[in-house]
Amino acid sequence: MAALPSPDDASATVMRPHVRRATASDLDAVAAVLAPYVARTAVTFDEEPPTDADWRGRLAEADARGLPFLVAELDGEVVGYAYAAPWRPKAAYRHTVEDTIYLAPAAQGRGVGTRLLSALLDACTVAGVRQVIAVVADDPAAAGSVPLHRRLGFEVTGVLRDVGRKHGRDVSTMLMQRTLH
Ligand SMILES: CC(C)(COP(=O)(O)OP(=O)(O)OC[C@H]1O[C@@H](n2cnc3c(N)ncnc32)[C@H](O)[C@@H]1OP(=O)(O)O)[C@@H](O)C(=O)NCCC(=O)NCCS
Repeated sequence: MAALPSPDDASATVMRPHVRRATASDLDAVAAVLAPYVARTAVTFDEEPPTDADWRGRLAEADARGLPFLVAELDGEVVGYAYAAPWRPKAAYRHTVEDTIYLAPAAQGRGVGTRLLSALLDACTVAGVRQVIAVVADDPAAAGSVPLHRRLGFEVTGVLRDVGRKHGRDVSTMLMQRTLH
């Protein structure tokens, strides 16, 4: 299985992305950001790329619930996205969400993820969210996820052992959690 390209080594430069709410016209670019992670890694447990209808549904659900679905642009191009979705469907979980964040490999390691996740947390606070959970797969392509979430105040709250199986191997996940005020 081919690895994803590493972030460019000119990466010490911190980039200042334009972060804004996603619209339906961003969804092709959003899908393109995720696609290589689906095909080549276990960062996501999707084994097939979400369909156009899946993406429209995710955006519509975020909009309907008042939860953020954001994109990050560099030079007018969408290079990443992040959204919040209900953690579990049962009613008493109403103030708890799971965050999802993906950047194109070339945009990694330059502070874009920090700005995008910060904006997501700010928007979650405004939306009345109390707890945000990140589910981080044990995969080399997710190496930036633990430091990113730690940097933004998440703590490790658990490990789920071998809950996924992808590309012929069992994959564990780490749960990280941040309380919003
Ligand atoms: C995780 C991700 C969103 C982080 O965004 P980013 O823009 O690369 O992160 P930043 O440049 O803002 O850096 C945030 C922290 O992560 C660290 N980091 C970023 N990429 C890293 C990597 N490949 N390996 C190790 N650490 C990394 C940075 O050094 C920084 O740590 P610090 O606060 O200790 O200095 C991005 O790397 C990505 O899209 N990864 C693949 C998908 C993924 O793992 N999504 C999360 C699923 S839970």
